Amino acid sequence: MSNKTKLLHGRLLEDADAFVEAFTASVAFDKRLCKQDIRGSAAHCRMLGEVGVLSGGEVEQILAGLAQVQAEIESGAFEWRTGLEDVHMNIEHRLIELIGEAGKKLHTARSRNDQVATDLRLYLRGEIDVLLGLQTALLNALLDLAERHQGTVMPGFTHLQAAQPVTFGHHLLAWFEMLLRDRERLTDCRRRVNQLPLGAAALAGATFPIDRQFVAKELGFEGVTTNSLDAVSDRDFAVEFAAVAAMTMMHLSRWCEELVLWTSQPFAFITLPDRFCTGSSIMPQKKNPDVAELVRGKTGRVYGDLTALLTLMKGQPLAYNRDNQEDKEPLFDAIDTLKDCLSALLGMLPHMQADADAMRRAALQGFPTATDLADYLVRKGMSFRDAHRAVGTIVALALEQGAGLEELSLSLLRKLTGNLVEEDVFAVLTLEGALAARSHVGGTAPAAVAEAVKTGRKRVAASYLRNQA
Ligand code: ARG
Repeated sequence: MSNKTKLLHGRLLEDADAFVEAFTASVAFDKRLCKQDIRGSAAHCRMLGEVGVLSGGEVEQILAGLAQVQAEIESGAFEWRTGLEDVHMNIEHRLIELIGEAGKKLHTARSRNDQVATDLRLYLRGEIDVLLGLQTALLNALLDLAERHQGTVMPGFTHLQAAQPVTFGHHLLAWFEMLLRDRERLTDCRRRVNQLPLGAAALAGATFPIDRQFVAKELGFEGVTTNSLDAVSDRDFAVEFAAVAAMTMMHLSRWCEELVLWTSQPFAFITLPDRFCTGSSIMPQKKNPDVAELVRGKTGRVYGDLTALLTLMKGQPLAYNRDNQEDKEPLFDAIDTLKDCLSALLGMLPHMQADADAMRRAALQGFPTATDLADYLVRKGMSFRDAHRAVGTIVALALEQGAGLEELSLSLLRKLTGNLVEEDVFAVLTLEGALAARSHVGGTAPAAVAEAVKTGRKRVAASYLRNQA
């Protein structure tokens, strides 16, 4: 009989068909959970010692054996066997090889069903903490950039048509808001990830006097799951993470779309560092924003990961089903992709160069202060609707003359507005005037941006990690 059949110890008399062995094996991808598996096993073992199921000597032997397995894995000496199906059985099998009888007692009061759920939650929690760190670094980078560009004028768009001038700092702070919400969502997701399923055993709980709180404390979980059937079958935490990851990628993709536009020659608002761009195999002059494009492209795979996880769960009756083994690859992919994409932006953004002159030239096109002129007329007593119409006529005329609004003569402006316009209108028609006028909270004025950066720093620093393990 194979090693695996011996470990499973069950009623099966035949070795698995070779195809079935390969089809059901997960070790190729779940060996990524080995550290968490060993850490969970050590906590389980200590607990069994505390409650008297294992003797002190057995606990010592198992812990030493697990440490040795870990050392073998770290040194590369460990031999992963597909025939042993998954990470759990590979490790348990090696433990028994190393320490014999005591090793066979580790799986008391436990099933791979609660074991794998525990491993996965531990792993995801650790990765969430890495991601939160990356998000925080990126939030700080955006604040630094926004501070530097609080007075840099650029065109603001709606429908990708020039609309009203904004400051580049304000635009960057819009990205900041998206990412801050993403970090909030991830922090919230972490709370539900950080619950201990171990103790649910196969599905109905264990018949030994287990101390689940002890294990939770050992492993840094905030609490224990409260229904054994749910504990082994629930993958909401993975779905939720993938949803948060998908939303974050959606945001990163939007930023990257703008980076791609802004580096293109018609815009030429920014340049990205050469080391984050690539050339062309045929066109020697090219500098392509491939990294930004790939972030945009990789967003699709994370949406796919979310869809895969949702679909994986929708037909499953309680409790554990082997379908759940399929949760790992999409989850790992979502984690890896998000990590890479956050790192890519963290590499690019702080070194992005803005061409303030090009931005200003672009901001002057398309009558960006037309709304400001209408608002001016309102302040002089006209209703907004009438002002909107009057300015529409003025814009049509300016278009005909190929002039900007500020280049029209005072007498012409007066004629078209029932003499409401006076000399002070020209300050209103400048880009700086338009920016400065929007100085309320959430507005684009340089002063408002400076203030938003200040409060932004406080919002980023507000502690977001509890119970870190
Ligand atoms: N490799 C399995 C998984 O990833 C571990 C749990 C197996 N449980 C079972 N009853 N076959 O879900």
